[in-house]
Amino acid sequence: MSQQYTSSYWQERKEDVAWLDEQSLNAAYNAVDKHLETGNGNKTALIYEAEDGTVKRFSFLALSQQSNKFANYLLSKGVKKGDRVFLFLPRIPELFIGFLGILKTGAIAGTMFSAFQKDALRDRLENSGATVVITAKELVDRIEQIKSELPELKHVLIVDDETFQADLELHPDNFSVCKTSPEDFAFMLYTSGTTGKPKGIVHAHYGCLQQHESAKLALDLKPNDIYWCTADPGWVTGIVYSILSNWSLGITTVVYGGRFDAEKWYEILEKHKVTVWYSAPTAIRMLMAKGTPLVKKYNLSSLRYLASVGEPLNPEAVIWGKEAFGKYFHDTWWQTETGSIMITNTPNLEVKPGSMGKPFPWVEAAILDDDGIPVPDEEEGNLCLKPFWPSLMRTVWQNKEKYESYFKNGWYFSGDRAKKDKDGYFWFVGRADDVIKTSGERVGPFEVESALVEHPSVVEAGVIGKPDEIRGEIIKAFVVLKPGVEGTEALKTELAEHVKKHLAGHAYPREVEFIDKLPKTRSGKIMRRILKAKELGQPIGDTSTLEEY
Ligand code: WT7
Repeated sequence: MSQQYTSSYWQERKEDVAWLDEQSLNAAYNAVDKHLETGNGNKTALIYEAEDGTVKRFSFLALSQQSNKFANYLLSKGVKKGDRVFLFLPRIPELFIGFLGILKTGAIAGTMFSAFQKDALRDRLENSGATVVITAKELVDRIEQIKSELPELKHVLIVDDETFQADLELHPDNFSVCKTSPEDFAFMLYTSGTTGKPKGIVHAHYGCLQQHESAKLALDLKPNDIYWCTADPGWVTGIVYSILSNWSLGITTVVYGGRFDAEKWYEILEKHKVTVWYSAPTAIRMLMAKGTPLVKKYNLSSLRYLASVGEPLNPEAVIWGKEAFGKYFHDTWWQTETGSIMITNTPNLEVKPGSMGKPFPWVEAAILDDDGIPVPDEEEGNLCLKPFWPSLMRTVWQNKEKYESYFKNGWYFSGDRAKKDKDGYFWFVGRADDVIKTSGERVGPFEVESALVEHPSVVEAGVIGKPDEIRGEIIKAFVVLKPGVEGTEALKTELAEHVKKHLAGHAYPREVEFIDKLPKTRSGKIMRRILKAKELGQPIGDTSTLEEY
């Protein structure tokens, strides 16, 4: 193995996941097929509830067989080890089965959130050079619209199409899983930074070992648990904690295919007797806004452990969780790039509401200044981790320079600012860059600005995250209009709709403000920090590099 892992933990725990042979590890085999060999094939792996209330159950055996069919089908279409196969599906069982099938062939699985529109889809498919996209009737139009611009895309499979289904049925339900090495790539996910297009974060099969251990310890998963992770596999949490780690532990997992709705969510918890629930701050705040009496209408006595991820979990939400459910939400901190939870409130750690908790024993975390020198306790600095660990990204797809930019002076720089208190608890402060976190989703301002300037009335745009009580941040756009265009309320709505239609349903500006001129550096870079300071009524700070404003 080329990487130097910081902890001997991994070598010692190696056998906690199922190897195909001494050198081969496949995260899909480890998540599903291994259970057939230990007599657990008939255990329920997935309880799937659709928005209309229909429930389907899948045993590990069923997931194994159906993903085998998928893998056979992909091979018949010429898919080879290392090829990129992307899923563009709503939260339906085929998303989970397809993901496993792709990994079994040795191809690299990519997921794309179903709210993505053609610009977001094109960026991902073009950069990854995906050869196959697996989608559904309700989404396929968006792929058809851009297909002619994607020369490497050979097949578009529609899972609810009768011809596809009949074809799939013809393939056998046994499969000889690709003997991937632990360092072979398993999946990739595009995520946003301040500048440029989204970057393809690539993960290796070996990550499943750390994902397994972290789910066991941070989510306290035990064999008889009924576990619900509300995240979509379009994001890393849905892949790691709704497929790879939970099933590696053999845990019965609930997936709800519908949208957020407080009553519906409580019904799911009650009906399926969920014991461990992993959710996100925006959802928790939305539930909180509906009040405690609503919670009390349901019998949620099965709940045993609650956890949260994705954005800062404010102390009020932690305290409300205790009042409403009798349990604290345990915060967990990690990133698409880290591949598994790094900092958390483990079950036996006293919760300090508002803190992310402490690093796992196998994680070395530190607060460093920009030169990589530790700052004293209680002082703000960069949240850094000591590389390497099994679930850390292996590369940024076709962007080695970007990958290398995460590492400085022997440390991984997360891009987050944080503090450590004298008891060793970590407290999130904010991002070091302009990345926006809206309802827990990571949005790059550049992508939204690019979508806005495609509109015929727009000259340029600057986009920031504006603090919001429920969503953490909302996207706010400052827009410079073409001469003679009137900045009406109707145009604000039109611009928001334009972004929704071109980029993504969730990444549009909820607020638009027209301005005459954007603050820029002398070299012409938009200074979002100034837009933000003005928005918040804060001092503008150092403007020495600013062009006259
Ligand atoms: C960014 C990573 C991997 C989980 C889903 C998000 C923010 C994440 C917390 C937390 C405060 C958090 C950070 C981080 N973040 N967890 N517990 N408290 N902030 O993955 O989309 O790659 O985003 O989310 O800013 O860098 P992601």
